Order: sequence, then C-alpha cells, then structure tokens
Amino acid sequence: MNENKSPVTQELYEHAKKIIPGGTQLLSKRPELYAPGQWPAYYSKASGCEVWDLDGNHYYDMSTNGIGACLLGFNDIDVSNAVKSSIDNGSMCSLNPPEEVYLADKLCGIHPWAENVRFTRSGGEAMTVAVRIARASTDRSVIAVCGYHGWHDWYLAANLGADDSLRGHLLPGLEPIGVPVELRNTTVAFSYNNMEQFENIVKKYGKRLAAVVMEPCKYSMPENNFLEKIREITEKNGTVLIFDEITIGWRLCFGGSHLKLGVNPDMAVFAKALGNGHPIGAVIGTANAMEGAQKSFISSTYWTERTGPAAALSVLDKMSRINIPEYVAKIGNTVVSSWKNSAQKYSLPIVIPECSPCFAKFNFKHEKENELKTLFVQYMLKQGFLATPFLYPTLAHTETIVKLYSEAVEVVFSQISHDMKVDKISEKLRGPVAHSGFKRLN
Ligand SMILES: Cc1ncc(COP(=O)(O)O)c(C=O)c1O
Repeated sequence: MNENKSPVTQELYEHAKKIIPGGTQLLSKRPELYAPGQWPAYYSKASGCEVWDLDGNHYYDMSTNGIGACLLGFNDIDVSNAVKSSIDNGSMCSLNPPEEVYLADKLCGIHPWAENVRFTRSGGEAMTVAVRIARASTDRSVIAVCGYHGWHDWYLAANLGADDSLRGHLLPGLEPIGVPVELRNTTVAFSYNNMEQFENIVKKYGKRLAAVVMEPCKYSMPENNFLEKIREITEKNGTVLIFDEITIGWRLCFGGSHLKLGVNPDMAVFAKALGNGHPIGAVIGTANAMEGAQKSFISSTYWTERTGPAAALSVLDKMSRINIPEYVAKIGNTVVSSWKNSAQKYSLPIVIPECSPCFAKFNFKHEKENELKTLFVQYMLKQGFLATPFLYPTLAHTETIVKLYSEAVEVVFSQISHDMKVDKISEKLRGPVAHSGFKRLN
C-alpha cells in the first residue's frame, strides 16, 4: 500500500505552474488529466515499468509508459548503453554522425517500397517535414488529415474552419489560437472509415490536394477496404499519401502498421518507439514523393546529433530479435480480461472499445464518468500503480507485474462499486476531478 505522501513532488509542480505556462511541455503529462493534486508530476528514476517520484514513492506504470515512447520499457539497458557509447565518442561534432546513414538503410530495408529518408528529433516536427516535402513535391497546398499529428500550424489550421473540424481527432473545442487565420482551408479533416467524407474532400479540392495524412489504424481497424480505396484515389489524383506511424508503428508489427495492413503509402513517419525514449523522428518515402526535400529548405542543427540515431539502431536491433508486437498484444489482452472480470464481479459499468490489444482501454459508462476515472486513478496510486483507464503495454510488463496489477484492479473496482452504491463518489475524491481536455491552468 502506498501512502502517496509526495510533498516535494506536488510542491515542485505548484511552483512549475507559476513559471512554466501550462505546467508541462506535453499536454499528456499534466497531472490535471489524471488526478489533480495527487498524480506525481515528476520522477527521480525510471526503469522497466517502474517509476520513483521525488519523495521516494515507487509505482508500476500501467498508464502510457512515456506516452507510448518506451515500447521496450524505460531505460532499456541495450539502448542506454548504445546512447552512452555515442556520448563517450562525442554526440555532437562539425561533421555528421554515420549512424544516420546506417539507420536510413535499415528503415528502407524494413520498408522495401521506401527509397529516401530524412530525420528529425520529434514526431510533430517529422510530420511537419513530411507535409512540407509533400507540398514541395506536388506544388500544391491543401492537406487532408485524419487523426492527431502534432501541434504545428499546418495541422491546427484544420480548426480554423467555420466548424470545429478537428473534433474527434484531437481535443474537442481546441481553439487554434496563434495560428494565422490566413491558413483557413489549407488543412481539412475527415473521419476514420468515413469514405463519403473523404471523397467529398477530393471532389472539393481535386488537384489542389497535396497530401492525405492519416494514421493507418489505431483504436479502429480499417473497414470496407478503407485504406485500399484511399490509396487508389490518392494515386489517381497525384496526391501524396502519408501514413503517420508515430504511435502505432512497431507496436502492431515490426515496422509500420501498413506492412501488416497491406497498403503502402508514399511516405511514412516514425518517432516515439523508434528511439525508445531518445529523440529521433524519421520520414521515409519513395524517391518521387521525397523529391521536394531537395527543393525546399528543411534543416536544423540538432537533427545532426548522434544519440537519436544511435538509440534507434539499437532499438531496431532488439526489436528484430524479440517479437515485441506479439508480447504487448498478450499483455494487453490479459489486462483487458482483468478489467472485464473485476467489472463483472462488482457490477461496475465499464465499456471496453474494440481495439487492437497493443493498446488497452476502458471507459466508465456513467453520468459521473470523469469522477469515476479520477477515483480509479486515486485508488490505484494508493495501491502503488500509475494507472489510467488506458494502457500502452511494453516489453517491461512482466506477467508477475500484470498479476499484481490485476489484483489491485479487483480491490479498486470493489471500492468504486461500494462508493457508487452508497452514493459517495464525489465525497471520496481527495482532490479536483480530472480535466477531460485542453484547459488553461493559471
Ligand atoms: C499519431 C501521432 N502523430 C504525431 C504525434 C506528435 O508527436 P510528438 O509528440 O513527438 O511531437 C503524436 C504524439 O502523440 C502521435 O500520437
């Protein structure tokens, strides 16, 4: 049992909110999204799926595990050693790191349709590079998007429309404050598996459509040959098809999920798991689609440092030896079963959406959904788990840890069920209810 006494951790975050607008650099790392005043914002050490906060509390991470970045677990020994060695030999120089060439070869070997590669150090900027290249290659401007692709102007421009068109892709109600209104109608959104919406966009923008940017799958799988149809239409229209593999890549299968789904794009983008916690993003593509990369100015100092590609080479080496997708699917399925069994036992109203077990997710089906979610996080913290109603399973989630987690879930579901019966959901909360989206903090 964890007492969750974390004065140092909580105080530092209170201070942070005064000098760092928004508190954290990534929205998904705000404690307010989980259990305000209770979720520890900071860690002193992370290893495998274990985390220690600044007050020495220990947790097993049954939440996002580095927002999906650490598929091999935190501080993977092989990856860390590769990074340390790249630092020992100088991680920055006036010359370029050869690892980027080895990595480009590896990525093209895994994705035989791809011939060219460019690198960045984060996912959102890799997407921005891909979009710039597509615009330069086609000499067109309009982008159609489906899914979340980062914080940059080109993407948020979709929310400049008369309606809130990114609703369902990112965060409902997110206003594109700071994005020039002149970008209106340069990016338009369509929903996953909605062929009619997609066709309407193609009809409306025709030869002005530079690229279609989408995750090949995530929580939903393609239906009625959705990807094949998009491939056919984009090819006919001279539009570049860009698959965003930043979150699903390497998790569903070794390489981009499109390899498993059987549809090749013109470009694919990787980040997150490619570096297992170290900064690296990659845009791969056919020579034709990537032609614009020669014409447009796309250049940055820290895209030439050495730790990112050194980490990625080590990650790929490990992932080619161990069947990670099979392992994380097994862990995901076990976790989903434990939610189902405990919910049934204590008559807890949860729904588990159909999705690939490489992610696991449940929702409370109740008018006090947010309160229940917050209570779940609060009670699980006490049991020693960073737990949210969604999990990104990793190689570090051993069966023993998952068993401990399942036992804790049973205890917590029974507590919540009791709180519901005696109508004390709100009373039991030790802090404010979790935010459900983007909000000003100060
Ligand atoms: C599918 C997808 N694309 C792009 C991004 C942005 O990547 P980053 O946060 O590294 O900028 C994310 C991050 O969550 C993502 O899930």
